[in-house]
Amino acid sequence: RTVAVILAGGTGTRLGLGIPKQLLKIAGKPIIEHTLAVFEAAPEIDEIVVLMATGHVDDAQRIVADAGFRKVTKVIEGGETRNDTTRIALDAVGEGDVNILFHDAVRPLVSARIVRECVNALWSYSAVDVAIPSADTIIQVDADDCITDIPVRSRLRRGQTPQAFRSGTIREAYRRAEGDPDFAATDDCGVVLRYLPGTPIKVIDGSDENIKVTHPVDVHLADKLFQLAAAQAPRLTHGGYAEELTGRTVVVFGGS
Ligand code: CTP
Repeated sequence: RTVAVILAGGTGTRLGLGIPKQLLKIAGKPIIEHTLAVFEAAPEIDEIVVLMATGHVDDAQRIVADAGFRKVTKVIEGGETRNDTTRIALDAVGEGDVNILFHDAVRPLVSARIVRECVNALWSYSAVDVAIPSADTIIQVDADDCITDIPVRSRLRRGQTPQAFRSGTIREAYRRAEGDPDFAATDDCGVVLRYLPGTPIKVIDGSDENIKVTHPVDVHLADKLFQLAAAQAPRLTHGGYAEELTGRTVVVFGGS
């Protein structure tokens, strides 16, 4: 059994809309509806659990009901931090050996290919991440914003989601993390890396389109990407998802 956990417990302070950004409409639908549609349509996914921001569980339930997403079994409230939300999700998924994919609700342009490759990688690995190469040089700074290191770019990647796990692995990592007063992590692979060292974490190629809607410019970008997807796959309805946009984007300059 493979469960997709949609993390929508955040409030989107950096976007600053006054509503959680996962409820913002892009291309005619709330961001979270686009995201759910990808997992609903993925044959590898059996069940979807949604963790929603406090005060907005009803909104999410309404979106699920109106769209008729049949794989969604639970819509519950998330936690204070992203990791708290993950913990609540682990409890909600219940015991037993399952594959779990954690995905940011605010990455609505995740592709069917990425979901498929994550699930397939769980045959060989108990933890899987999704990442893309970094076009920018990444610099490490100290508290005074002075450079302390410039790691070799070819070895760096930018992490995306989903992050996929066999349930035993992610549960054990969080169980060990619970005893650590200094616990802090921004993602779930980080919890496995830190608390179950030695566990191989496979990295699947993400895509440039799998953006996390974080800042106002990302809203414009996501809107454009949905337009492109719709233009390239006019016969696919549910949101008009292309299998993947990468490599098929044509940019025309000039008018002749
Ligand atoms: N998330 C969550 N529970 C939290 C915080 C975040 O499930 N307590 C989810 C968000 O809803 C989002 C994903 O984690 O889908 C990525 O987080 P981020 O982009 O940081 O979202 P927000 O926390 O909403 O944004 P901000 O940091 O600007 O407030």
